[in-house]
Amino acid sequence: MSSFENLRVVDNFYQTSLFFPMPTVVISTLCEDGSTSLGPYSLIQPYYVAGKDFYAMLLSCRNNSNTAQHILTDGKCAINFIDDDPKTFKEAVKLSWPGDTPAEKMKNCNFRLEKSQIEEETGEKRPMVMTDAIQVIECSWVRELDHAENDQPGQLNGYKPPYHDFNGITSEFGAHFILKVDRILMKKKYSDAIINGVRSQDFPPLPVDYGYRDSKNFWFHRKRRMRAELLPMRKTELSSVRYAADRIDDKIRFTDDALEKLLNVPRIFLPTALKGCVDWARENGVELITAEHMAIINDKRSKEKNK
Ligand SMILES: Cc1cc2nc3c(=O)[nH]c(=O)nc-3n(C[C@H](O)[C@H](O)[C@H](O)COP(=O)(O)O)c2cc1C
Repeated sequence: MSSFENLRVVDNFYQTSLFFPMPTVVISTLCEDGSTSLGPYSLIQPYYVAGKDFYAMLLSCRNNSNTAQHILTDGKCAINFIDDDPKTFKEAVKLSWPGDTPAEKMKNCNFRLEKSQIEEETGEKRPMVMTDAIQVIECSWVRELDHAENDQPGQLNGYKPPYHDFNGITSEFGAHFILKVDRILMKKKYSDAIINGVRSQDFPPLPVDYGYRDSKNFWFHRKRRMRAELLPMRKTELSSVRYAADRIDDKIRFTDDALEKLLNVPRIFLPTALKGCVDWARENGVELITAEHMAIINDKRSKEKNK
């Protein structure tokens, strides 16, 4: 017999039928007059994380919100991650009343704004970013995906079908936006932690949000103590790494001490790791890859990552 209750799956199931932990962001977009408007959002997540020509986020929102209408107009937005101070969360919730115009809500908004770095460098008009954000992702909507390039702003009382599946106008009142990551901005204290390696105390105070419930409240909690869970290391046998290595190329070989550097690589990633080494060897005219070569290859990889 099941140990669970079976809940009804209804509209907004993530906040009506689940306890679903979410981030809290305030999205800045450009109004027609060039000013910046802010709206709070939680249904936002990484979408393309690797293996594509660009990186992307996914936003799910009401299609007649100011944010959606502005993205449909000029495709630009900035995703500002606010801190977990209850005063900051209160300020964000103040910006959430559906139907408020940007002018109505921005006149009472206490969040400080500053010019986008991209605008400063290129002169391209971009929404301002929040000075007190911990980190910001500056984005551009990828209109071409799902053929959403002809989706237009202006239908505030509901869009007529046909609808897209995953980008642009996706239902009468819904929209999804695949947002290319143009730039990630972060306060120095936290970018230092990313570059130098994080300790428990280095994580920023980001809230965890459980959405709108009981037709009254937005629920969230503040950051808690961060714990680290060590990944159990599984070492592959040298003989099985050798077996895979000898099948990558008919000429290029590895010494045992070179292959020992790959014993910790999970088996599923091993062919890709080996192929990377063989590609490097080919480019550099090496036929026997040694431990010293592996150090050079690793160094090159970590430099590329830091770039
Ligand atoms: C913490 C928080 C998270 C929210 N997340 C979303 C969301 O992910 N999607 C959405 O459509 N509305 C969300 N809302 C409601 C919007 O903020 C609301 O529709 C608001 O009117 C949007 O502002 P805008 O019209 O200026 O874009 C959220 C509200 C709050 C306070």
